Amino acid sequence: MSYKDQIQKDQLPAHIAIIMDGNGRWAKKQGLIRAFGHKKGVQTVHEITEAAAELGIQYLTLYAFSTENWNRPKEEVDMLMTLFVETIEKERATLMDNNVRLLTIGDIDRLPDGARTRFLKLIEDTSHNTGLSLVLALSYSSRWEITHAMQEIAKRVASGELKPEDVNEELISANLTTAGIPDPDLLIRTSGELRISNFLLWQLAYAEMTFPACLWPEFTNEDLYKAIVDYQHRERRFGKTSEQVLVTK
Ligand code: IPE
Ligand code: IPE
Ligand code: MG
Repeated sequence: MSYKDQIQKDQLPAHIAIIMDGNGRWAKKQGLIRAFGHKKGVQTVHEITEAAAELGIQYLTLYAFSTENWNRPKEEVDMLMTLFVETIEKERATLMDNNVRLLTIGDIDRLPDGARTRFLKLIEDTSHNTGLSLVLALSYSSRWEITHAMQEIAKRVASGELKPEDVNEELISANLTTAGIPDPDLLIRTSGELRISNFLLWQLAYAEMTFPACLWPEFTNEDLYKAIVDYQHRERRFGKTSEQVLVTK
């Protein structure tokens, strides 16, 4: 039986977050330059977005480019920005056909003007779609996001609008770029690396995690279904005992 058939449709993770890692290693394995890995990686994004939309997943967050990735060789950064613009144009129909709403988290002011303008236009054009919300983490890092949120809150405390004791978990969440988006239930990182790399540090507090060994360009819909089935076999305790969790089920 395929993994897809084993998925319990009433127990889907509302939010899946993916660290799409391993494009460069995939290219190297084929004897190609890194750019080919990124291009193949975009195809995987296409497949996985359609699969998640079809399953009825509410939120899919993809880590596409980190704050630290700006430190890669200029040639690679430029190539990624060009690929990003091409992808925005090419995948417009995919988003519309699958009723996908595009969102972004990250410091998009750092994107080249042309890329940012086209990206914002596509976000606007898909804003009435009611299916999957596809959240692109672009020029994103969790420490950047939390620092920015703290500055915003500090300004309001300094002006007297808020008291220090008004700062609570809800207020902090509401000042993150993910405001209004539920925390991820499931985190997937491909390529076998066992780290978070500055991704959603606050929001992943109780996410279930899985680290498939395959590289992102090799990641298939079946791998996504497997990750969901594995997730559905976990017991999420949120600090409670197993007995408590079983009683409230
Ligand atoms: C992930 O693949 C894509 C980005 C970070 C943009 P990598 O480019 O990190 O590939 P590896 O980790 O070098 O194989
Ligand atoms: C994390 O991958 C960022 C993205 C997938 C966009 P990296 O390849 O940049 O992470 P490290 O450097 O191996 O931790
Ligand atoms: Mg990497």
